Amino acid sequence: MTQLFRDARIGDACVVALAAPDDFAGWREQARRLVMAEVPPDRVIWQVPGEGGGDLFAGPGNARRLPTPPRDAPPPRVPRAFLDLAGKAALHRDEQRHALLYRLLWRLQTRPGLMEDAADDDVRRLQMLARTVRRDIHKMRAFVRFRVIADTQGERYVAWFEPEHYILRANAAFFVNRFTQMQWTILTPQGSIDWDGETLREGPPAARSDAPAEDAAEDLWKTYYASIFNPARLKIGAMLKEMPKRYWKNMPEAALIPALVAGAQAREARMVETGAALFTEDRPDSLDAIAAGVSACTRCAIGCNGTRAVAGEGRDDAALMIVGEQPGDSEEQAGRPFIGPAGQVLRGHLEQAGIDPQQAWLTNAVKHFKFVMRAPAKRRLHQNPSAKEIDTCRWWVESERLLVRPRLVLALGASAARSVLGKTVSVQKVRGVPHRLDDGAELWITTHPSYLLRLDDAARAGEEARFAADLAAAQARLRELAG
Ligand code: URA
Repeated sequence: MTQLFRDARIGDACVVALAAPDDFAGWREQARRLVMAEVPPDRVIWQVPGEGGGDLFAGPGNARRLPTPPRDAPPPRVPRAFLDLAGKAALHRDEQRHALLYRLLWRLQTRPGLMEDAADDDVRRLQMLARTVRRDIHKMRAFVRFRVIADTQGERYVAWFEPEHYILRANAAFFVNRFTQMQWTILTPQGSIDWDGETLREGPPAARSDAPAEDAAEDLWKTYYASIFNPARLKIGAMLKEMPKRYWKNMPEAALIPALVAGAQAREARMVETGAALFTEDRPDSLDAIAAGVSACTRCAIGCNGTRAVAGEGRDDAALMIVGEQPGDSEEQAGRPFIGPAGQVLRGHLEQAGIDPQQAWLTNAVKHFKFVMRAPAKRRLHQNPSAKEIDTCRWWVESERLLVRPRLVLALGASAARSVLGKTVSVQKVRGVPHRLDDGAELWITTHPSYLLRLDDAARAGEEARFAADLAAAQARLRELAG
Protein backbone atom coordinates (compact mmCIF):
# COMPACT_ATOMS: atom_id res chain seq x y z
CA MET A 1 0.00 0.00 0.00
CA THR A 2 2.64 2.46 1.11
CA GLN A 3 4.82 1.42 -1.76
CA LEU A 4 2.10 2.14 -4.35
CA PHE A 5 1.48 5.55 -2.85
CA ARG A 6 5.16 6.37 -2.99
CA ASP A 7 5.45 5.10 -6.53
CA ALA A 8 2.61 7.38 -7.50
CA ARG A 9 4.31 10.37 -5.89
CA ILE A 10 7.70 9.72 -7.35
CA GLY A 11 6.25 10.07 -10.82
CA ASP A 12 6.16 13.87 -10.70
CA ALA A 13 8.38 14.51 -7.67
CA CYS A 14 12.01 15.54 -7.49
CA VAL A 15 13.87 13.14 -5.25
CA VAL A 16 16.97 14.51 -3.60
CA ALA A 17 19.32 11.97 -2.05
CA LEU A 18 21.53 13.53 0.61
CA ALA A 19 24.88 11.95 1.41
CA ALA A 20 24.34 11.62 5.17
CA PRO A 21 21.78 12.50 7.84
CA ASP A 22 23.84 15.59 8.80
CA ASP A 23 24.55 16.68 5.21
CA PHE A 24 23.45 20.30 5.57
CA ALA A 25 25.85 21.51 2.87
CA GLY A 26 24.24 19.03 0.46
CA TRP A 27 20.76 20.22 1.41
CA ARG A 28 21.79 23.85 0.84
CA GLU A 29 23.21 23.19 -2.56
CA GLN A 30 20.21 21.22 -3.80
CA ALA A 31 17.66 23.52 -2.18
CA ARG A 32 19.22 26.50 -3.93
CA ARG A 33 19.00 24.71 -7.24
CA LEU A 34 15.39 23.70 -6.69
CA VAL A 35 14.30 27.23 -5.77
CA MET A 36 16.03 28.58 -8.87
CA ALA A 37 14.24 25.94 -10.95
CA GLU A 38 10.97 26.98 -9.27
CA VAL A 39 10.17 23.52 -7.92
CA PRO A 40 7.53 23.96 -5.18
CA PRO A 41 7.95 22.19 -1.82
CA ASP A 42 5.16 19.67 -2.44
CA ARG A 43 7.08 18.33 -5.42
CA VAL A 44 10.31 17.58 -3.56
CA ILE A 45 11.13 14.42 -1.65
CA TRP A 46 14.22 14.50 0.54
CA GLN A 47 15.94 11.22 1.03
CA VAL A 48 18.46 10.52 3.78
CA PRO A 49 20.46 7.30 4.30
CA GLY A 50 18.99 5.25 7.12
CA GLU A 51 15.72 7.20 7.24
CA GLY A 52 12.30 6.83 5.64
CA GLY A 53 12.17 3.05 5.70
CA GLY A 54 15.00 2.08 3.39
CA ASP A 55 16.29 2.95 -0.04
CA LEU A 56 13.15 3.01 -2.13
CA PHE A 57 14.23 6.17 -3.92
CA ALA A 58 17.95 5.55 -3.87
CA GLY A 59 20.09 5.21 -6.93
CA PRO A 60 21.74 7.38 -9.53
CA GLY A 61 18.49 7.61 -11.55
CA ASN A 62 17.08 10.00 -8.97
CA ALA A 63 19.79 12.56 -9.54
CA ARG A 64 18.61 12.93 -13.13
CA ARG A 65 15.16 13.88 -11.93
CA LEU A 66 16.43 17.21 -10.61
CA PRO A 67 15.71 19.99 -13.10
CA THR A 68 18.44 22.36 -14.20
CA PRO A 69 17.57 25.96 -13.32
CA PRO A 70 17.49 28.54 -16.13
CA ARG A 71 20.83 30.33 -16.53
CA ASP A 72 19.36 33.71 -15.59
CA ALA A 73 17.39 32.48 -12.56
CA PRO A 74 18.09 34.72 -9.53
CA PRO A 75 19.69 32.97 -6.53
CA PRO A 76 17.37 32.54 -3.53
CA ARG A 77 17.28 35.16 -0.80
CA VAL A 78 18.32 33.65 2.53
CA PRO A 79 18.24 35.72 5.71
CA ARG A 80 21.06 35.01 8.18
CA ALA A 81 18.55 34.17 10.92
CA PHE A 82 17.17 31.36 8.79
CA LEU A 83 20.58 29.91 7.92
CA ASP A 84 21.74 29.88 11.54
CA LEU A 85 18.66 27.97 12.68
CA ALA A 86 18.56 25.73 9.63
CA GLY A 87 22.16 24.59 10.19
CA LYS A 88 21.17 23.28 13.59
CA ALA A 89 17.68 22.01 12.71
CA ALA A 90 19.18 19.96 9.86
CA LEU A 91 20.89 17.80 12.50
CA HIS A 92 17.59 16.85 14.19
CA ARG A 93 16.28 13.29 13.91
CA ASP A 94 12.90 14.52 12.69
CA GLU A 95 12.50 12.94 9.26
CA GLN A 96 10.51 15.94 8.01
CA ARG A 97 13.29 18.43 8.78
CA HIS A 98 14.55 18.86 5.21
CA ALA A 99 11.01 19.30 3.89
CA LEU A 100 10.38 21.93 6.58
CA LEU A 101 13.59 23.77 5.71
CA TYR A 102 12.78 23.77 2.03
CA ARG A 103 9.22 24.94 2.63
CA LEU A 104 10.54 27.84 4.67
CA LEU A 105 13.17 28.70 2.10
CA TRP A 106 10.47 28.68 -0.58
CA ARG A 107 8.14 30.88 1.44
CA LEU A 108 10.96 33.30 2.28
CA GLN A 109 11.29 34.17 -1.40
CA THR A 110 7.89 35.89 -1.33
CA ARG A 111 7.84 36.82 2.37
CA PRO A 112 11.32 38.05 3.29
CA GLY A 113 10.18 39.04 6.80
CA LEU A 114 8.78 35.58 7.57
CA MET A 115 11.44 34.74 10.16
CA GLU A 116 10.16 37.56 12.37
CA ASP A 117 6.69 36.00 12.50
CA ALA A 118 6.87 34.22 15.85
CA ALA A 119 3.35 32.82 15.38
CA ASP A 120 4.07 31.05 12.11
CA ASP A 121 3.94 27.26 12.55
CA ASP A 122 6.93 26.57 10.30
CA VAL A 123 9.06 29.22 11.98
CA ARG A 124 8.14 27.90 15.41
CA ARG A 125 8.90 24.33 14.41
CA LEU A 126 12.28 25.41 13.00
CA GLN A 127 13.12 27.21 16.24
CA MET A 128 12.14 24.19 18.29
CA LEU A 129 14.25 21.78 16.24
CA ALA A 130 17.28 24.09 16.41
CA ARG A 131 16.87 24.54 20.16
CA THR A 132 16.72 20.79 20.75
CA VAL A 133 19.83 20.19 18.67
CA ARG A 134 21.73 22.98 20.44
CA ARG A 135 20.86 21.36 23.72
CA ASP A 136 22.05 17.96 22.51
CA ILE A 137 25.35 19.51 21.36
CA HIS A 138 25.80 21.08 24.76
CA LYS A 139 24.96 17.84 26.58
CA MET A 140 27.53 15.93 24.58
CA ARG A 141 30.20 18.50 25.47
CA ALA A 142 29.30 18.23 29.13
CA PHE A 143 28.67 14.52 29.49
CA VAL A 144 31.26 12.71 27.38
CA ARG A 145 33.41 10.73 29.83
CA PHE A 146 36.71 9.37 28.59
CA ARG A 147 38.26 6.20 29.94
CA VAL A 148 41.94 5.65 29.52
CA ILE A 149 43.40 2.60 27.81
CA ALA A 150 47.01 1.80 26.93
CA ASP A 151 47.83 0.54 23.45
CA THR A 152 51.01 0.28 21.37
CA GLN A 153 50.89 4.04 20.68
CA GLY A 154 50.69 4.93 24.37
CA GLU A 155 47.70 6.19 26.32
CA ARG A 156 44.41 6.67 24.51
CA TYR A 157 41.16 8.04 25.88
CA VAL A 158 38.00 6.38 24.70
CA ALA A 159 34.44 7.51 25.32
CA TRP A 160 31.08 6.00 24.51
CA PHE A 161 28.28 8.45 23.92
CA GLU A 162 24.73 8.21 22.57
CA PRO A 163 23.69 11.50 21.00
CA GLU A 164 20.02 12.00 20.43
CA HIS A 165 20.51 13.83 17.13
CA TYR A 166 23.12 13.88 14.35
CA ILE A 167 25.59 16.05 16.20
CA LEU A 168 28.77 13.98 16.21
CA ARG A 169 30.52 15.75 13.30
CA ALA A 170 29.23 19.13 14.44
CA ASN A 171 30.92 18.60 17.81
CA ALA A 172 34.23 17.23 16.53
CA ALA A 173 36.04 20.61 16.39
CA PHE A 174 35.07 21.31 19.98
CA PHE A 175 36.70 18.11 21.24
CA VAL A 176 39.80 18.65 19.06
CA ASN A 177 40.27 22.13 20.53
CA ARG A 178 39.59 21.02 24.03
CA PHE A 179 41.69 17.87 24.06
CA THR A 180 44.35 18.74 21.51
CA GLN A 181 47.13 17.12 23.50
CA MET A 182 45.37 13.83 24.07
CA GLN A 183 44.79 10.93 21.74
CA TRP A 184 41.12 10.12 21.92
CA THR A 185 38.23 8.33 20.29
CA ILE A 186 34.53 9.01 20.71
CA LEU A 187 32.36 6.05 19.80
CA THR A 188 28.65 6.47 19.09
CA PRO A 189 25.93 4.40 17.40
CA GLN A 190 26.06 6.92 14.51
CA GLY A 191 29.79 6.68 13.86
CA SER A 192 33.04 7.45 15.60
CA ILE A 193 35.66 10.18 15.59
CA ASP A 194 39.26 9.65 16.40
CA TRP A 195 42.01 12.19 17.13
CA ASP A 196 45.66 11.11 17.19
CA GLY A 197 47.04 14.50 18.23
CA GLU A 198 47.29 15.70 14.62
CA THR A 199 44.55 14.27 12.45
CA LEU A 200 40.85 13.77 12.95
CA ARG A 201 39.44 10.62 11.37
CA GLU A 202 35.90 9.34 11.07
CA GLY A 203 35.03 5.72 11.68
CA PRO A 204 32.02 3.41 11.53
CA PRO A 205 29.17 3.20 14.06
CA ALA A 206 30.14 1.45 17.26
CA ALA A 207 28.53 -0.48 20.06
CA ARG A 208 28.83 0.30 23.74
CA SER A 209 30.82 -2.92 24.22
CA ASP A 210 33.57 -1.46 21.98
CA ALA A 211 34.40 1.08 24.71
CA PRO A 212 36.28 0.22 27.90
CA ALA A 213 34.02 -0.30 30.88
CA GLU A 214 35.92 1.36 33.68
CA ASP A 215 39.30 2.84 34.56
CA ALA A 216 41.24 4.29 37.46
CA ALA A 217 40.11 7.85 36.69
CA GLU A 218 36.57 6.79 37.60
CA ASP A 219 37.25 7.06 41.31
CA LEU A 220 38.70 10.52 40.78
CA TRP A 221 35.51 11.64 39.08
CA LYS A 222 33.44 10.19 41.85
CA THR A 223 35.53 11.89 44.55
CA TYR A 224 35.23 15.17 42.71
CA TYR A 225 31.53 14.84 42.13
CA ALA A 226 30.84 13.87 45.73
CA SER A 227 32.95 16.82 46.92
CA ILE A 228 31.12 19.41 44.83
CA PHE A 229 27.69 17.94 45.52
CA ASN A 230 26.01 20.43 47.80
CA PRO A 231 23.01 19.03 49.61
CA ALA A 232 21.84 22.53 50.56
CA ARG A 233 21.50 23.34 46.88
CA LEU A 234 19.80 20.16 45.79
CA LYS A 235 16.86 20.76 43.48
CA ILE A 236 15.97 17.46 41.92
CA GLY A 237 13.89 18.93 39.10
CA ALA A 238 16.64 21.31 38.04
CA MET A 239 19.26 18.59 38.32
CA LEU A 240 17.30 16.26 36.07
CA LYS A 241 16.83 19.05 33.55
CA GLU A 242 20.58 19.73 33.47
CA MET A 243 21.61 16.11 33.57
CA PRO A 244 18.73 14.05 32.14
CA LYS A 245 18.62 10.43 33.23
CA ARG A 246 19.30 9.11 29.74
CA TYR A 247 22.93 10.27 30.05
CA TRP A 248 23.55 8.70 33.45
CA LYS A 249 24.44 5.23 32.27
CA ASN A 250 27.67 6.47 30.65
CA MET A 251 28.73 8.79 33.47
CA PRO A 252 30.67 7.21 36.33
CA GLU A 253 29.65 9.87 38.84
CA ALA A 254 25.96 9.28 38.14
CA ALA A 255 26.18 6.02 40.08
CA LEU A 256 26.52 8.18 43.19
CA ILE A 257 23.46 10.32 42.58
CA PRO A 258 20.75 8.16 44.19
CA ALA A 259 22.80 7.75 47.37
CA LEU A 260 23.80 11.43 47.48
CA VAL A 261 20.21 12.53 46.95
CA ALA A 262 19.00 10.13 49.62
CA GLY A 263 21.61 11.40 52.07
CA ALA A 264 21.17 15.05 51.12
CA GLN A 265 18.67 16.00 53.77
CA ALA A 266 20.71 14.46 56.56
CA ARG A 267 23.89 16.10 55.29
CA GLU A 268 22.20 19.46 55.00
CA ALA A 269 20.91 19.21 58.54
CA ARG A 270 24.42 18.37 59.76
CA MET A 271 25.94 21.28 57.85
CA VAL A 272 23.46 23.73 59.32
CA GLU A 273 24.02 22.32 62.80
CA THR A 274 27.78 22.77 62.62
CA GLY A 275 27.56 26.11 60.83
CA ALA A 276 29.74 24.64 58.13
CA ALA A 277 27.39 25.73 55.36
CA LEU A 278 28.30 29.34 56.09
CA PHE A 279 31.98 28.87 55.41
CA THR A 280 32.37 25.90 53.18
CA GLU A 281 29.43 26.14 50.88
CA ASP A 282 30.38 24.11 47.82
CA ARG A 283 34.03 23.95 48.85
CA PRO A 284 36.02 20.74 48.90
CA ASP A 285 36.66 19.49 52.40
CA SER A 286 40.14 18.05 51.88
CA LEU A 287 43.28 18.77 49.92
CA ASP A 288 42.78 15.46 48.10
CA ALA A 289 39.34 16.60 47.03
CA ILE A 290 40.92 19.82 45.73
CA ALA A 291 43.46 17.78 43.76
CA ALA A 292 40.64 15.69 42.29
CA GLY A 293 38.63 18.83 41.66
CA VAL A 294 41.35 20.72 39.80
CA SER A 295 42.03 17.64 37.68
CA ALA A 296 38.47 17.70 36.50
CA CYS A 297 38.13 21.48 36.41
CA THR A 298 37.00 23.00 33.11
CA ARG A 299 35.94 26.40 34.41
CA CYS A 300 38.33 28.26 32.10
CA ALA A 301 39.89 27.68 28.71
CA ILE A 302 43.21 26.51 30.21
CA GLY A 303 41.38 23.88 32.19
CA CYS A 304 39.90 22.69 28.92
CA ASN A 305 43.18 22.39 27.03
CA GLY A 306 43.69 18.74 27.83
CA THR A 307 46.82 19.16 29.96
CA ARG A 308 47.30 17.59 33.35
CA ALA A 309 46.37 19.81 36.29
CA VAL A 310 49.08 20.33 38.90
CA ALA A 311 47.72 20.48 42.42
CA GLY A 312 49.51 22.01 45.40
CA GLU A 313 51.80 19.89 47.54
CA GLY A 314 53.54 20.00 50.90
CA ARG A 315 52.42 20.06 54.52
CA ASP A 316 48.68 20.23 54.99
CA ASP A 317 49.12 22.53 58.02
CA ALA A 318 52.06 24.54 56.72
CA ALA A 319 52.71 27.97 58.23
CA LEU A 320 54.02 29.14 54.86
CA MET A 321 52.14 28.91 51.58
CA ILE A 322 54.07 29.77 48.43
CA VAL A 323 51.99 30.69 45.41
CA GLY A 324 53.53 30.66 41.93
CA GLU A 325 51.94 31.51 38.62
CA GLN A 326 51.17 28.23 36.86
CA PRO A 327 52.87 24.89 36.19
CA GLY A 328 55.37 24.90 33.33
CA ASP A 329 56.18 22.19 30.82
CA SER A 330 58.17 20.02 33.30
CA GLU A 331 55.62 20.46 36.07
CA GLU A 332 52.79 19.44 33.77
CA GLN A 333 54.64 16.29 32.75
CA ALA A 334 55.54 15.34 36.31
CA GLY A 335 52.29 16.54 37.89
CA ARG A 336 54.24 18.42 40.59
CA PRO A 337 54.81 22.15 41.18
CA PHE A 338 58.18 23.87 40.95
CA ILE A 339 60.38 21.12 39.59
CA GLY A 340 61.40 22.77 36.29
CA PRO A 341 64.03 25.51 35.71
CA ALA A 342 62.20 28.28 37.62
CA GLY A 343 61.38 25.80 40.36
CA GLN A 344 65.08 24.96 40.72
CA VAL A 345 65.92 28.65 41.14
CA LEU A 346 63.22 28.95 43.79
CA ARG A 347 64.33 25.84 45.66
CA GLY A 348 67.95 27.04 45.66
CA HIS A 349 66.92 30.36 47.19
CA LEU A 350 64.59 28.72 49.72
CA GLU A 351 67.44 26.57 50.91
CA GLN A 352 69.69 29.62 51.19
CA ALA A 353 67.01 31.38 53.27
CA GLY A 354 66.63 28.34 55.54
CA ILE A 355 63.14 27.47 54.30
CA ASP A 356 62.43 23.77 53.85
CA PRO A 357 59.98 23.45 50.92
CA GLN A 358 58.63 20.23 52.41
CA GLN A 359 57.44 22.19 55.43
CA ALA A 360 55.61 24.68 53.21
CA TRP A 361 52.54 24.39 50.95
CA LEU A 362 53.60 24.99 47.32
CA THR A 363 50.92 25.85 44.85
CA ASN A 364 50.06 27.99 41.84
CA ALA A 365 47.58 30.72 40.98
CA VAL A 366 46.51 28.71 37.94
CA LYS A 367 46.50 24.93 38.03
CA HIS A 368 46.89 24.10 34.36
CA PHE A 369 49.74 24.90 31.97
CA LYS A 370 48.91 27.61 29.43
CA PHE A 371 51.09 27.46 26.34
CA VAL A 372 51.33 27.92 22.58
CA MET A 373 52.78 25.24 20.36
CA ARG A 374 55.80 26.45 18.38
CA ALA A 375 56.74 24.71 15.15
CA PRO A 376 58.90 23.12 13.86
CA ALA A 377 60.16 21.50 17.05
CA LYS A 378 56.65 21.57 18.51
CA ARG A 379 57.82 23.09 21.79
CA ARG A 380 55.20 24.18 24.27
CA LEU A 381 55.94 27.81 25.01
CA HIS A 382 54.62 29.30 28.24
CA GLN A 383 51.91 31.96 27.99
CA ASN A 384 50.81 34.25 30.79
CA PRO A 385 47.36 33.49 32.18
CA SER A 386 44.80 36.27 31.71
CA ALA A 387 43.33 38.13 34.69
CA LYS A 388 40.06 36.30 34.07
CA GLU A 389 41.76 32.91 34.16
CA ILE A 390 43.56 33.81 37.38
CA ASP A 391 40.30 34.99 38.92
CA THR A 392 38.53 31.79 37.89
CA CYS A 393 41.22 29.60 39.42
CA ARG A 394 41.33 31.77 42.54
CA TRP A 395 38.51 29.72 44.01
CA TRP A 396 40.88 26.74 44.25
CA VAL A 397 43.67 28.79 45.83
CA GLU A 398 41.23 30.16 48.40
CA SER A 399 40.02 26.63 49.10
CA GLU A 400 43.63 25.58 49.72
CA ARG A 401 44.12 28.51 52.07
CA LEU A 402 40.95 27.66 53.98
CA LEU A 403 42.24 24.16 54.59
CA VAL A 404 45.97 24.76 55.14
CA ARG A 405 45.50 28.03 57.05
CA PRO A 406 49.03 29.39 56.54
CA ARG A 407 50.22 32.31 58.63
CA LEU A 408 52.25 33.74 55.82
CA VAL A 409 51.52 33.59 52.10
CA LEU A 410 54.39 34.33 49.76
CA ALA A 411 53.20 35.34 46.29
CA LEU A 412 55.72 35.00 43.48
CA GLY A 413 55.00 37.57 40.80
CA ALA A 414 51.98 39.53 39.65
CA SER A 415 49.70 36.58 38.79
CA ALA A 416 50.18 35.06 42.22
CA ALA A 417 49.60 38.44 43.89
CA ARG A 418 46.37 38.90 41.93
CA SER A 419 45.29 35.41 42.86
CA VAL A 420 45.62 36.12 46.57
CA LEU A 421 44.46 39.75 46.59
CA GLY A 422 41.83 39.58 43.88
CA LYS A 423 43.27 42.67 42.19
CA THR A 424 46.35 43.60 40.20
CA VAL A 425 49.26 45.27 42.01
CA SER A 426 52.70 46.37 40.88
CA VAL A 427 55.14 43.85 42.31
CA GLN A 428 58.00 46.33 42.33
CA LYS A 429 55.92 48.80 44.38
CA VAL A 430 54.59 46.37 46.96
CA ARG A 431 57.42 43.88 47.44
CA GLY A 432 58.67 43.76 50.98
CA VAL A 433 55.49 45.42 52.31
CA PRO A 434 53.29 42.86 54.09
CA HIS A 435 49.51 42.92 53.54
CA ARG A 436 47.08 41.69 56.14
CA LEU A 437 44.61 39.19 54.63
CA ASP A 438 41.00 38.69 55.79
CA ASP A 439 41.84 35.62 57.84
CA GLY A 440 44.71 37.37 59.64
CA ALA A 441 47.49 35.80 57.57
CA GLU A 442 50.17 38.05 56.06
CA LEU A 443 50.80 38.28 52.37
CA TRP A 444 54.33 38.98 51.16
CA ILE A 445 54.92 39.64 47.51
CA THR A 446 58.13 39.23 45.55
CA THR A 447 59.13 38.56 41.96
CA HIS A 448 58.71 35.26 40.19
CA PRO A 449 61.90 33.19 39.86
CA SER A 450 61.40 32.85 36.09
CA TYR A 451 61.98 36.64 35.92
CA LEU A 452 65.52 36.03 37.20
CA LEU A 453 66.08 33.45 34.47
CA ARG A 454 65.21 35.95 31.77
CA LEU A 455 67.77 38.60 32.88
CA ASP A 456 71.26 38.97 31.47
CA ASP A 457 74.19 38.32 33.80
CA ALA A 458 74.71 41.98 34.68
CA ALA A 459 71.14 42.59 35.78
CA ARG A 460 70.67 39.16 37.27
CA ALA A 461 73.13 39.45 40.16
CA GLY A 462 71.31 42.47 41.61
CA GLU A 463 67.86 40.91 41.21
CA GLU A 464 69.01 37.60 42.70
CA ALA A 465 70.19 39.53 45.76
CA ARG A 466 66.82 41.31 46.09
CA PHE A 467 64.97 38.02 45.74
CA ALA A 468 67.21 36.43 48.38
CA ALA A 469 66.57 39.40 50.69
CA ASP A 470 62.78 39.06 50.23
CA LEU A 471 62.90 35.37 51.12
CA ALA A 472 65.13 36.02 54.11
CA ALA A 473 62.71 38.71 55.37
CA ALA A 474 59.74 36.36 54.92
CA GLN A 475 61.57 33.64 56.84
CA ALA A 476 62.42 36.06 59.66
CA ARG A 477 58.79 37.11 59.87
CA LEU A 478 57.65 33.49 59.92
CA ARG A 479 59.92 32.85 62.90
CA GLU A 480 58.42 35.88 64.66
CA LEU A 481 54.90 34.70 63.95
CA ALA A 482 55.74 31.23 65.25
CA GLY A 483 57.40 32.94 68.18
N1 URA B 1 56.46 28.42 37.77
C1 URA B 1 55.43 28.49 38.63
O1 URA B 1 54.92 29.56 38.91
N2 URA B 1 54.96 27.38 39.16
C2 URA B 1 55.49 26.19 38.91
O2 URA B 1 54.97 25.19 39.45
C3 URA B 1 56.56 26.13 38.02
C4 URA B 1 57.04 27.27 37.46
